[in-house]
Amino acid sequence: MGRKFFVGGNWKCNGTAEEVKKIVNTLNEGQVPSQDVVEVVVSPPFVFLPLVKSLLRPDFHVAAQNCWVKKGGAYTGEISAEMLVNLDIPWVIIGHSERRLILGESNEFVGDKVAYALSKGLKVIACVGETLEQREAGTTVEVVAAQTKAIAELVSDWTNVVLAYEPVWAIGTGKVATPAQAQEVHDELRKWLHQNTSPEVAATTRIIYGGSVNAANSKELAVQPDVDGFLVGGASLKPEFIDIIKSAE
Ligand code: G3P
Repeated sequence: MGRKFFVGGNWKCNGTAEEVKKIVNTLNEGQVPSQDVVEVVVSPPFVFLPLVKSLLRPDFHVAAQNCWVKKGGAYTGEISAEMLVNLDIPWVIIGHSERRLILGESNEFVGDKVAYALSKGLKVIACVGETLEQREAGTTVEVVAAQTKAIAELVSDWTNVVLAYEPVWAIGTGKVATPAQAQEVHDELRKWLHQNTSPEVAATTRIIYGGSVNAANSKELAVQPDVDGFLVGGASLKPEFIDIIKSAE
């Protein structure tokens, strides 16, 4: 079974209602390959999710950027998986490096969140990736394997999981991983899944790349055999996101 190309746009903590409407208009007018070829998911900040969902073309879907680790309740400032389900939000990003590093989310906490979100019926974009220090210390594979293990220990059905490899040193820096660097880690992640989950999970789980992806570099990354798509930050707020989606072809 082939892995359908996946392009996610992570809008992070950006935008006003007016700006968000403009981005959606641009997306709605874009000519992109059909849903049989590419799955497109955009992730606005929580407060704009209903607005974006109501305006967005039906062949694109929405994701939240986070959700709480268990059933909602007395957790001020959090958004529960149940709320996302209630609003018909199909996807959630979990374990982004900005949450791991700035907000202190541990591998175990991320694993718990992925498992809980899946148990409520959400589809999950689960993020892993090493820092520059870890890469320079030669521990990249060890780091992403430990991050993936914390998820795999709690998740047996990977049907609704997309694994996003986002090297921290490439995020928002303009310093994209080379196609060879991305392919190397994606290949290691697939091997890890093969050995620690099942050959089927390894063969079917999409592993997407994130970190300074733009219209100029997406094509050469997209042709790598184990790069099944992208999680795009800055460029997903711009018209060039359409060109990145086209690199699925
Ligand atoms: O989740 C996407 C991301 O962290 C990459 O951001 O701005 O480098 O494309 P950017």
